[in-house]
Amino acid sequence: MIADREHFVIELAEDQPVNDIFADGRDLYLEIGSGKGEFISQYPISHPQWNFIGMEMSEKRIRVCLNKLSVEKNPNVRLLREKADAGIAKFFLPESLCGVFIQHPDPWPKRRHHRRRLFQQDFLTALAGIMKPGAQVQISTDHADYAAWIVAEFFKSPHYLCLQDDPIQGHGNLDEHVVTWFEREQRQLGYPPNFMLYKRI
Ligand SMILES: C[S@@+](CC[C@H](N)C(=O)[O-])C[C@H]1O[C@@H](n2cnc3c(N)ncnc32)[C@H](O)[C@@H]1O
Repeated sequence: MIADREHFVIELAEDQPVNDIFADGRDLYLEIGSGKGEFISQYPISHPQWNFIGMEMSEKRIRVCLNKLSVEKNPNVRLLREKADAGIAKFFLPESLCGVFIQHPDPWPKRRHHRRRLFQQDFLTALAGIMKPGAQVQISTDHADYAAWIVAEFFKSPHYLCLQDDPIQGHGNLDEHVVTWFEREQRQLGYPPNFMLYKRI
């Protein structure tokens, strides 16, 4: 049964920050590109002391996420149907996010499409502005070329520190990693994820 859409999908008034949605003031975490909802429906269950926003631009995917969410099991989850880009700061209060999760962002493999990739300097700067100092960004991608691109973009940005000896790790050493639909698919095709971990300075 599709969970209560009005409960989960945020409708913001003009200039209202997403932070207002939870009245309890708990630490706020963001997932970008929730896809079919594995992470946003599972991870928050083991972190009931935190609140989570799943940001997903596709209406179809939002509906799939809703199928996995339950008002009873996921009281600390809401969904935001928006595209994350350099304008992301308009949705959140400055320095308010305690952590960000991005699993398998669209790689846009063709060179002429690289400008569509999420990880660009203007996005990283805007994201840093809404993250608390010390907050972490966890990223995974099966796409080796995009992993190298992501590392290069973070390296150029003055706002982040790489937290791994090797910036691209081929094994999931990240706490309580949730295997998503896309990760499972790509593993079966022989493309395991590359993991990256950064801290907002
Ligand atoms: C390759 S899928 C991965 C989904 C999920 N994270 C997983 O690992 O299975 C990428 C997802 O991110 C969404 N997406 C892509 N770009 C986005 C953006 N800029 N903002 C929000 N969602 C985005 C897509 O609609 C899609 O659901």
